[in-house]
Amino acid sequence: MTNLVAPHGSDILKPLIIKDKSEKDNIITQSKNLHQLKLNSAAAANAVMLAAGYFTPLEGYMSKKDALSVSENMVTTNGLFWPVPIINLTKEDITGVSVGDEIALLDPNVEGNPVLAIQRIETIEKISDEELSLMAKNIFGTNDSEHPGVKNFTSLGNTLISGSIKVLNYSYFPSDFPNTFATAEEIRKKLSDSGWTKVVAFQTRNPMHRAHEELCKMALERLSADGVLIHMTLGKLKEGDIPGDIRDAAIRKMVEIYFPNNTAIISGFGFDMLYAGPREALLHATFRQNCGCSHLIVGRDHAGVGDYYEPFAAQEIFDNEIVKKSLKIEIFAADHTAFSKKLNKVVMMRDVDDHSKDDFVLLSGTKVREMLSNGEDLPAEFARKEVADILKSYYPVSYTHLRAHETSLHLVCRLLLE
Ligand code: ADX
Repeated sequence: MTNLVAPHGSDILKPLIIKDKSEKDNIITQSKNLHQLKLNSAAAANAVMLAAGYFTPLEGYMSKKDALSVSENMVTTNGLFWPVPIINLTKEDITGVSVGDEIALLDPNVEGNPVLAIQRIETIEKISDEELSLMAKNIFGTNDSEHPGVKNFTSLGNTLISGSIKVLNYSYFPSDFPNTFATAEEIRKKLSDSGWTKVVAFQTRNPMHRAHEELCKMALERLSADGVLIHMTLGKLKEGDIPGDIRDAAIRKMVEIYFPNNTAIISGFGFDMLYAGPREALLHATFRQNCGCSHLIVGRDHAGVGDYYEPFAAQEIFDNEIVKKSLKIEIFAADHTAFSKKLNKVVMMRDVDDHSKDDFVLLSGTKVREMLSNGEDLPAEFARKEVADILKSYYPVSYTHLRAHETSLHLVCRLLLE
């Protein structure tokens, strides 16, 4: 019996992974005779999240009706709250494939494209560029093709294949991040075993600087929470973001030195970053509820990119009626947080009304990247020295040579092979 918050829309988690070995072997054998469809990375990431129970209670990829309804109203045609369409959109040739068939979904992110999942086809529908653009506007708040999420979303294809899936594995995540990747089920168990009930989740795609560290500590203290789940994005990122393994190492070092024992669990999930700001914050909250978290920290420009979103739009969207009535997880709404030179500590700006902008140590992401690639030290007020050292030692490599979503291990292998 657990005292953790219930999953979204269900009493129990519904991971779509096949656990039984003989069932798995049967599916692998059968799949040889099925039509093989190579997924794009977005659809593969959806399968991994469905497999790991994060997307409970969904049972597969959404139909066009559901995708349009979710993008417009954040609700499926069955009335389930869901913030972004979970779809298998493709430009691959599917000649000969019909409704009712089973097809094998191949993993685009693993050498040799092994079977990742089996899908039973419910609908095969065409979706026009205009419809995709409209969906993008609803999901990302813009249909500007310069937006990295929009650019990706509108290039996936015009055929939408819906239907339930059974998933064979978690793609490259367990092998690339053996100590960090975890399923929603595993996280629930970890929280239960720790005896935690009030748990605050911290979403991140970045190494944690002083502001991030203090945000977690403020949330812990102000909510009287049992602990924080530092839960990082392990999937693909836009060019220029710090790769998962480097971020992971920096976060682990910071927690080891600066967090009291047994107050933080570090973990990650296999999903590509959407950069969808408010809608992605809702998705982040939904799947943290599935992990058993009672709260999600939402600060400034959560899941944002460039200046597409208002700084606190990702908090405001939680005031929406459908969200309030659908989600059990709550947010810890944080103001802009930075080091105060006046008080010699990290503060939330709304807590110090006698400060002007110059009283804070503020560094833009671009400035940080510039300093790191020049081998300069980051100010101690901005980043812990141990964190900065890890970033500094990896950064020239990552900045100059890493392709988007490549870990530094991939890089070394690629350079050796080239
Ligand atoms: S995210 O794209 O994964 O959300 P990031 O790792 O930068 O990006 O942020 C993680 C969380 O910390 C988000 O909730 C974000 O709003 C919050 N955050 C990051 N920096 C600050 C800051 N200086 N002040 C307030 N909140 C912040």
